[in-house]
Amino acid sequence: MAKKPASQMDVIVSLCKRRGFVFQASEVYGGVGNTYDYGPLGVELLRRVKDAWWNRVVVERSDVVGLDSAIIQHPKVWETSGHVGGFSDPMVDCKLCKGRFRADKLEDARCPEKPSKRPGECAGELTEAREFNLMFKTTLGPVEESGSVAYLRPETAQGIFLNFKNVLESARQKPPFGIAQIGKSFRNEITPGNFVFRTREFEQAEMEFFVPPGEDQQWFEYWREARYRWYVDLGIDESKLRIRDHEASELAHYAKATSDIEYEYPFGWGELEGIANRADFDLTRHSEASGTDLLYFDPQTKERYTPFVIEPAGGINRMALTFLIDAYEEEQLEKDTRVVLHFHPEIAPITVGVFPLVKKDGMPEKAKEIEAELRRARLATFYDEKGAIGRRYRRQDEVGTPYCITVDGDTLSEDVVTVRHRDSMEQEKVPVADLREYLEEASRRWVRPAPKG
Ligand code: GAP
Repeated sequence: MAKKPASQMDVIVSLCKRRGFVFQASEVYGGVGNTYDYGPLGVELLRRVKDAWWNRVVVERSDVVGLDSAIIQHPKVWETSGHVGGFSDPMVDCKLCKGRFRADKLEDARCPEKPSKRPGECAGELTEAREFNLMFKTTLGPVEESGSVAYLRPETAQGIFLNFKNVLESARQKPPFGIAQIGKSFRNEITPGNFVFRTREFEQAEMEFFVPPGEDQQWFEYWREARYRWYVDLGIDESKLRIRDHEASELAHYAKATSDIEYEYPFGWGELEGIANRADFDLTRHSEASGTDLLYFDPQTKERYTPFVIEPAGGINRMALTFLIDAYEEEQLEKDTRVVLHFHPEIAPITVGVFPLVKKDGMPEKAKEIEAELRRARLATFYDEKGAIGRRYRRQDEVGTPYCITVDGDTLSEDVVTVRHRDSMEQEKVPVADLREYLEEASRRWVRPAPKG
């Protein structure tokens, strides 16, 4: 029987496991549904995505500062924000197999018993839809009673609103200015899936940009463009990227307008990041409910007002998955096919592979010396002396390492190494003394290669 070709997602999932990007969580106990651990390369990829986001949104600007707020906040926060009453998805049960599905996403769901059918299309009848709240509940302290109920945050944004005044006063900012935060969020999703695209525990990168009312539309457009540009600058294929404005009926309860940056995944177009105009909804609600005034007083105009908020909100895990999928290529060469991840050098988990050509004549020692020097310069390296040099290059191509350095006879006699470029596979001789500068310059000049097909 002919083997069924693996789907593009299966190929990515298998590469992630084989090369140590992502593992099934609690695997030795049979795994826990749709929950994942990040291995040595995965954790480096996440770190680089977070750094690239933080550098663009915070470090490169004078009008955005950072925050790290608690995951567990006062339970009233989530009543005021509307999450206790309204953060839910419509859910239906199958009376036959007891499977639970999102009523508004039945076209994407499969019957667990008969995967060729959708829920309701098999013998099972579906219940009426009812609202299911997505927040995880827990209890505070050593008692389990209703008074001690607390929630794991479903978004990082609320911690930012609660600290608006603290930051305003301590960081000497004034609107327009932003507060950024990266951290874990939790949602008890009815149907998690598509690998790490939708999980119950994930990391968010959010920024709340506080602006004078009346300037909100211009800043909404500014951040929509700036966030789209970040993905393109990091090499994402623009033909798979689009901005989609929400219809009025789709808008969240807090939003005046929202645009999603969407990517064309192997399973279809999906939201990568949302940019919302939250107007003055959150600060007004928290001011009213807490009794603490969260207004801004402008000392120049002597005006007091509640700032409007523009919010770019993305998921770090979803970004990392998108970079992985987008970078993946099975490139047809003259004699064979090579698997390569064309990561932008800024997000590649390993920057340089360092190889001695052979395991003798002092080459391993010299290669280790060069590797140690590069590590001291904070470049992520990987030393490999096993197997034919061509195979070592291919192993690094598969995890997206942009450069490999080979130490050979010329290194010992003339202090020059061979630098091999991942995308073009071209090789160049470079003096050891110039190596760091050479690699930094190559990374600065990197452009995404056209697919070879
Ligand atoms: N504060 C606004 C907010 O949280 P959202 O559209 O619900 O907006 C923002 O979430 C981003 O967080 C999404 O665009 C997505 O990248 C990520 N995200 C949301 N739910 C997720 C989940 N269950 N798993 C992984 N990422 C998720």
